[in-house]
Amino acid sequence: MIPRQRSSPISPVSPPLPAIATEVVDGLFRTPKSLPPKLLYDDRGSALFEQITCLPEYYPTRTEAAILSTHANEICSRLGQNVTVAELGAGTATKTRILLRSLLQHQFSVNYFPLDVSAAALQMAKDEMERDLDSVCVHPHVGDFEDLTFLERQAPPRLVLYIGSSIGNLERNQAISLLQNIASHLSRGDQLLLGADLVKDSGILHAAYNDSAGVTASFNKNLLVRINRELGGHFEPDTFSHVSFWNQTASRVELHLESVIPQSVRIDALDMTLRFGQGERIHTENSYKYTIECLESLLNDGGFEVEHTWTDPLSWFAVTLGVIT
Ligand code: AVJ
Repeated sequence: MIPRQRSSPISPVSPPLPAIATEVVDGLFRTPKSLPPKLLYDDRGSALFEQITCLPEYYPTRTEAAILSTHANEICSRLGQNVTVAELGAGTATKTRILLRSLLQHQFSVNYFPLDVSAAALQMAKDEMERDLDSVCVHPHVGDFEDLTFLERQAPPRLVLYIGSSIGNLERNQAISLLQNIASHLSRGDQLLLGADLVKDSGILHAAYNDSAGVTASFNKNLLVRINRELGGHFEPDTFSHVSFWNQTASRVELHLESVIPQSVRIDALDMTLRFGQGERIHTENSYKYTIECLESLLNDGGFEVEHTWTDPLSWFAVTLGVIT
């Protein structure tokens, strides 16, 4: 018989903090306060973003979809023979279906590897893709962009989709490291299709991030709702207003949450209380806008050679194909 080990004295172990705790502490203890934009995309945030994509003022999604539809055949004819397709931040993959439908006229079947932080969005992507296109086999992967080893499950030749202007959330140096990270998992001949929003009239930009239905405001404030739920926060979302504007010098639209009153907010799981002055802001997101030249040089710095850039008649959005040489 194995002697039972003497039980160790019970020590007070606190439950592990949710993954977002460190990022929330880091962001809210600095001046000015800020939070990483990826925290906006929990299941509810992803669903709100889906609503944003249908707003009349929000031109990026339909403009990119139009570019993909108009040029689908030409894009597909530039891809490797029998490519497998991965997608970073796939969401519900609505635009991707346009591309894969066209790709199925060039090849018999497609293995599709979508990555997203929202499991709910991925489930929708899988259901809709398989309902729509039965020769597409979907291999979903829940995660963020920090670990891209899932790309290695893809057989070559590979196409990586990074569309929807998600790259606009990143600073230039972060964007370059992400592209380099993608490239490090790829081989010669593998390709990247990158969709990015372009610099345009500031009135159009302003309207796109300040919609009259207030969906963008709810999307932004969802960050506070998320902190309340996941970290026992006591934010009152109505005491913050959604502030968004075009910052021409930095070539980006900024999103902030502005405290309309002076207040203290307690966050139980972090055992801390935050002070907000009246008018004090939390910077929650940047949406960088590119010129075609900047976009192409970004791809080069990221380790890709540019093969072609497609745009819409008004040059509001660009889709660029790069290749590893
Ligand atoms: C998902 C990053 C492409 O920057 O336009 C939309 C996010 N934020 N409205 C964008 C967003 C507010 C969106 N991206």
